[in-house]
Amino acid sequence: MEKKNIDWSNLGFGYVKTDYRFVSDFKDGKWDEGRMTEDDKVVISECAGVLQYAQTVFEGMKAYTTQDGRIVTFRPDLNASRMADSARRLEMPVFPEDRFIQAVVDTVKANAAYVPPYGSGATLYIRPYMFGSNPVIGVKPADEYQFRIFVTPVGPYFKGGVKPLTIRVSDFDRAAPHGTGHIKAGLNYAMSLHAIMDAHNQGFDENMYLDAGTRTKVEETGGANFLFITKEGKVVTPKSNSILPSITRRSLMYVAKEYLGLEVEEREVYLEEVKDFAECGLCGTAAVISPVGKIVDHGKEICFPSGMEAMGPVTQKLYDTLTGIQMGRLEAPEGWLKVIE
Ligand code: PLP
Ligand code: COI
Repeated sequence: MEKKNIDWSNLGFGYVKTDYRFVSDFKDGKWDEGRMTEDDKVVISECAGVLQYAQTVFEGMKAYTTQDGRIVTFRPDLNASRMADSARRLEMPVFPEDRFIQAVVDTVKANAAYVPPYGSGATLYIRPYMFGSNPVIGVKPADEYQFRIFVTPVGPYFKGGVKPLTIRVSDFDRAAPHGTGHIKAGLNYAMSLHAIMDAHNQGFDENMYLDAGTRTKVEETGGANFLFITKEGKVVTPKSNSILPSITRRSLMYVAKEYLGLEVEEREVYLEEVKDFAECGLCGTAAVISPVGKIVDHGKEICFPSGMEAMGPVTQKLYDTLTGIQMGRLEAPEGWLKVIE
């Protein structure tokens, strides 16, 4: 199969229209069988639930070309089950998990010409999403929904690739206790837009959100979970009911323990103790692991010993191991890679 003529190595994290997308409609209480289409336009009522009350959830995952030329996705079963959790929380019908995985496979396969080659530094980002599509004016769930998947080839999420980031402690909250922080709903991202623009305007790459209840504990950023490395080399990640349960983070904790023999701990992390860590990273599908060099807390700087030039040594090992598994250079744990072709 011939690849598209794309400058893979210079892609940013943006949208490139590809040839095919998957669509399935939910009507009269059931999902139809779905179809692959070349039509990238969505036509819905002006009063659709998604437009009026933001009834929409999504997922983010990637397809990779492995060293031996296969196309694989990484743990799509976990995206399927997280999307089901997100849908239930917003009173939306669940797109069956086995059908979700099959639709991901079919959409990637249909767009195989857009899967970046091994070693290019780019990957194929996969965006499953669904939304309420029929008219809703009283505040209630829609009766009709559309589930869709599109794909787009992407490069690094943060400009500058793996250069350490400078982030700030945000005065805005991301998620309320008992709210929707633990699901992947569009509304969580809409409310982060002002905070991220404000951070960028002030020269920061991202926001560190604290727990909204006490504002003493580290939660996550707008699009990634935190990993910290202690001076003794232990991997620590914040535990909270209001952060998104990152599949990358869960995978990295496993990799740290089982592949690298590191001690791992998921626990509440107080802002107060962040200055004592040796390394800090942001992890997620888009972010992979992006190192943090500096955190600014209202003018007070926390500078990690790993510095502003390169990833810390433990973060680097985690990065190499995870990407090694995803690109087929290292053996993956049973069931982590779904081979597409
Ligand atoms: N946290 C937030 C708020 C996110 O949007 C994402 C991205 O999906 C993550 C964390 C990372 O999750 P994952 O590793 O499953 O991509
Ligand atoms: C992802 O990592 O897949 C995400 O959805 C994060 C998003 C902010 C791009």
